[in-house]
Amino acid sequence: MPSTLSFDQSRLAEELADAERAGADVLQWDVMDGAFVPNLTVGWDVIAACRQHTQVPFEAHLMIADPGRYVEQFGKAGNERLIVHVEACTHLHRVLQQIKAEGLQAGVALNPATPLEVVENVLDLVDTVLIMTVNPGFGGQHFIATMIPKIREAAAHIAERQLAVRIEVDGGITPDTIRSVYDAGARKFVAGTAVAHHPRGKAAAIAELRAALP
Ligand code: DX5
Repeated sequence: MPSTLSFDQSRLAEELADAERAGADVLQWDVMDGAFVPNLTVGWDVIAACRQHTQVPFEAHLMIADPGRYVEQFGKAGNERLIVHVEACTHLHRVLQQIKAEGLQAGVALNPATPLEVVENVLDLVDTVLIMTVNPGFGGQHFIATMIPKIREAAAHIAERQLAVRIEVDGGITPDTIRSVYDAGARKFVAGTAVAHHPRGKAAAIAELRAALP
């Protein structure tokens, strides 16, 4: 799942088409508001403008304060899934209900310092729990290996409750780290730098990531 954050922002349409040819399963938009995270990126208009340039499904990782304000706009822009941060929602359960009421898939994201317990009561509303393996805001950061036990704990909890929830990881995912998070239970992998900045291009990058998995 390439993150668009690391794409050439002056050539997004071409980059998206390139990612599709390279075999991307999903394209993730990293939406940042400069408040919840110390960076500012795209809004729903950019996503909507890009929708026509690829058939690959979009999801939006909303690293924004009070994301419930914009569920409708990010849904109408062409995202199939909206992932919100538990740390950004005063009423997380209501926001996830709102996302599902728009006919979208809902995901919940946890920053590295946030324990899994805080989302236990909403896992029945989501199809994805995103466990951040970097502190959100930027691409190219180092993988936080202490998140591996948290991934393992989430996988065990999901299995015990027989929930239809898949674990997604995001941050520092490379051919050197992807197997460790897979073995802990992750099944969806967001990669920014590892895909966008690979010397032999996105197809080689995605092939290398896939080759690192069983
Ligand atoms: C960080 C973003 C990540 C980031 C991943 O806030 O949520 O998606 O783009 O970039 P890499 O894969 O370079 O760590």
